[in-house]
Parts: sequence; C-alpha cells; structure tokens
Amino acid sequence: MSSIFRTDLLEGQVALVTGGGTGIGAQIAREYANLGATVVIASRKEANVVPAATALSEECGRTVHPIVCDIRDRARVAEVCASIVADHGSFDILVNNGGGQFFSPAELITPNGFDAVVGTNLTGTWNMTRGAADAWMLKNGGRILNITMLSRRGFTGMAHSVAARSGVEAMTKTLAIEWMSRGIRINCIAPGLIASSGLKRYPKELGVLNVMKGVVPMKRLGRREEIAWMAAYLASAAGDYITGETITIDGGKELWGDMWPIPDPPDMTPAIPETDPWEE
Ligand SMILES: NC(=O)c1ccc[n+]([C@@H]2O[C@H](COP(=O)([O-])OP(=O)(O)OC[C@H]3O[C@@H](n4cnc5c(N)ncnc54)[C@H](OP(=O)(O)O)[C@@H]3O)[C@@H](O)[C@H]2O)c1
Repeated sequence: MSSIFRTDLLEGQVALVTGGGTGIGAQIAREYANLGATVVIASRKEANVVPAATALSEECGRTVHPIVCDIRDRARVAEVCASIVADHGSFDILVNNGGGQFFSPAELITPNGFDAVVGTNLTGTWNMTRGAADAWMLKNGGRILNITMLSRRGFTGMAHSVAARSGVEAMTKTLAIEWMSRGIRINCIAPGLIASSGLKRYPKELGVLNVMKGVVPMKRLGRREEIAWMAAYLASAAGDYITGETITIDGGKELWGDMWPIPDPPDMTPAIPETDPWEE
C-alpha cells in the first residue's frame, strides 16, 4: 500500500528496476508493485534479487520477478530485455538504479577502479537504456529513470562516480530530445545522502553517517521512500510533461556545506579589505 499515491497508479505497466534487490532499488520496486505494476528486479547476485523478490511478492500480493544480470554484460542485457517483453507483454518503465562506487581521494583511484565505476554507472546505464529501447521503447514508447548522484558541484572523494553520473545526466538530456518523437520520457533523480544499504559500506566506528547528517541543511539523512515516491511520480502520468530533467532530492545538501577538508596554505594572508590610496 502506497502512503502517497492511488493504488492503481501504475496498473498494467511493466517495470524493470536494476539493483532492485537492495536499498533504494528495492524500495522503488516495492512502491511500483504496490501501485499495480508488474515488477522485475535485476542485479548480479542471486542472493540479492531472489530473497527480495520473494519477500516483496508476499508483502505486495503480486509476483515480483527476480533476474540475475550484470548491466556491464551487453549480451545478457539484450537477453533480459527481450525476455521481459516475451514474458510480460511490454516493457514500459526502466529504472537504472544499479550501480555503486567506493570513496577515495582521486590520487588513490587505480586505473581498474576508475574503469569499473565508469563501466557500471555510465556504460551499464547506457547498455540497459539501449536494451530497453531496442526491445520495446523505440516502437512503443516508455519511461526511463536514471538514479544518479549530486553532481552540480562535483563530488569530492568520488571523482570516478561523479564523472560517470554527469555523463548519464548529459546523456539523459540528449536522449530526451532524440527519442521525444518515439514517446520516450527520460529523467534522472539525484539523491543526496540517503540512509540506504549503499551507506553501510562506511565503517560505523568512524561516525561518518553522523558527520554526513551534519552537512545536510535539514540535519537528517534522506529516506528510501523519499526517492521511491519521486520515482513513482516520474513513471506515472503525473510526469508526462517532464523530460530530460534531473530532480535533486537532498534536503538542501547541494546548496550548502561539504565534508572535504581543504588545508590552509602555509603563507595564507590575513583577510583585510583593500583600500585605494586616496582613502587613507
Ligand atoms: N544511498 C545513497 O546515499 C546514494 C546517494 C546517491 C546515489 N546513490 C545511488 O543509488 C543507487 C542505489 O543505492 P543504494 O544506497 O540502494 O545502494 P546499494 O544497495 O549498494 O545498491 C546498488 C545496487 O546495484 C546493484 N548493482 C551493482 N553493480 C551492478 C551491476 N554491474 N549490474 C547489476 N546490478 C548491479 C547491486 O546489486 P548486486 O551487488 O547484486 O549486483 C545493488 O542492488 C546506486 O546507484 C547508488 O550509487 C545512492
């Protein structure tokens, strides 16, 4: 049961949520299933998608379908997209949520680390998008949602991922125009700091989550529902006049504050307002 939307909002729609077995993706899958959609969740690990699909099916009273798929594997992506159309009769909504990164100062990111993050978050998103377009959407229309990250000010400690996500946001604007006449709407949601599984990677002992909370003007982390509700809005007719956009959901984070320390230079001069000679 959705706490926000009419329960038949997505009735008859077929949706694929990548990374739908955990965190934000599982919450989007839950919201969509509760709104009447047929939902498929896909990620690399059976141990993520199968238990989530079983639990969500029970909770929502409709079958949520698990699929194992690495979004970097183009052949597998094409197979999965074709199977969604074959098994469910259409492919109306794609949520590119699967992804991830690791926090690292730029000078410590290895070539492999950079390639892996870009390969998943940028190329993987492209693979899925083309897969869905080729299998269904170019002929029949659809809605695509890309989950990105805060990127307008860059993202310190995440040079690889913010580069990939900015690429996704630029690609989104481009496809919004190229595929407008195909009836495809495509948008991004840029989450701020969300209390989701992705943040479990930070060691609890360091109290990083409390530091994070402190740099958000609302002084709290976001909830997964707060992303899922926007994902439902944009996937429904409510979003029919929105395309090529990135909607930021961050409690004001991008407008203020950062955690990244910038050391003072040794010769830092005192801040004194300058005066002209005739003012002496
Ligand atoms: N939590 C936040 O504060 C936050 C903020 C900004 C953006 N985001 C982004 O939002 C998305 C969801 O985040 P989350 O917090 O829910 O983290 P999460 O639980 O780590 O979600 C990532 C999901 O992506 C899947 N995935 C990773 N690589 C994949 C691949 N190559 N192919 C298919 N699936 C893959 C993972 O499943 P498998 O391991 O089974 O593949 C997992 O289900 C991520 O893209 C994340 O970067 C999160």
